[in-house]
Amino acid sequence: MVVLGIESSCDDTSIAVYDSQKGILSNVVSSQVKIHEAWGGVFPELAAREHTKNFIPVVHKALNDANITLKDIDIIASTFCPGLIISLVVGVSGSKALSYITDKPLVPVHHIEAHIFANFIGKEDIEYPFIALVVSGGHTELVLVKGFEEYIYLGGTLDDAVGEVYDKVARALGLGFPGGPIIDRLAKEGKEIVKLPRPLIHDKEENRFNFSFSGLKSATIREIQKGIYSKEDIAASFQNAAVDVLVKKSIDACKEFKVNHLVVAGGVSANSKLREELSKECEKEGIKLDIPPIFLCTDNGSMVAYTGYLRYKNTGKTVDYDFEALARCRIDRFKEIF
Ligand code: KG4
Ligand code: ZN
Repeated sequence: MVVLGIESSCDDTSIAVYDSQKGILSNVVSSQVKIHEAWGGVFPELAAREHTKNFIPVVHKALNDANITLKDIDIIASTFCPGLIISLVVGVSGSKALSYITDKPLVPVHHIEAHIFANFIGKEDIEYPFIALVVSGGHTELVLVKGFEEYIYLGGTLDDAVGEVYDKVARALGLGFPGGPIIDRLAKEGKEIVKLPRPLIHDKEENRFNFSFSGLKSATIREIQKGIYSKEDIAASFQNAAVDVLVKKSIDACKEFKVNHLVVAGGVSANSKLREELSKECEKEGIKLDIPPIFLCTDNGSMVAYTGYLRYKNTGKTVDYDFEALARCRIDRFKEIF
């Protein structure tokens, strides 16, 4: 089966071709980083305009790189939710048009689900159950995945997402956008000399699997404003605090649900410190750890194509042309809506 995967939920237009026999045939990402850099974050209207401009050229390049034409596509998979709505509607409208002209099924994909299943592209089988730690610019959540479309939401952030906080701290330090990779790099040259809070890390009650990063963000910005510490030391101090919380809660979730398999997903899973600490802790606890290769951590069309393939194969689900994109939709509610 040959799948065209379409992703436009934030600031990257990414379209890929996935072949269930041969794997990823192409993965084109049209990045808007240069445009949003000046704003220190994604500027929604500009993002939507860029998607509109880039959509067809990116489809064209994805097909060319894969050495196929639209006629060779069997299904079209598209991110329907969650995300920046004016960006999502561009990709969804484009996907509907492609489905209409090719007369091929349109398969809806949940963005977070796609990040999770990016871990299994090119692997033989998916071993269930596992705990998924989702860490991106818009999400920080823990999900117990019992099977395809069998998701139990364990908790999420009560305020800011971890990636968003990376970006805001970077902005306060006068660094570029997105801030995650820059802080990751700087932190390697710094030391944890400021002890910053690890919010909710020891919560045993209702917030056991919830996160809160806005207090850490404010505390970090206060330290930056004092002007005493170097950018490197601030980066290292902030990163250690954020990573400690993510690692502790992920391992706790594995223990609580007696699941010895942890899967990490989303842009922040590219973080070197998070990868290192999770590897250490998982090894110590006898937990199998999956983290995608770096190019599949941030938004990409391949994860959408692959998840669309899994959906079609497992459930045969497709959508009519009157289905809409949604800004919000929790992963465990997706199957009630689509
Ligand atoms: O999953 P993603 O590409 O887009 C969303 O769905 O949000 O995630 C983007 C986020 C940004 O906040 C970016 O700063 C963060 O992922 N990020 C990182 C790293 N690479 C990307 N954060 C920390 N360390 C990194 N190496
Ligand atoms: Zn994403």
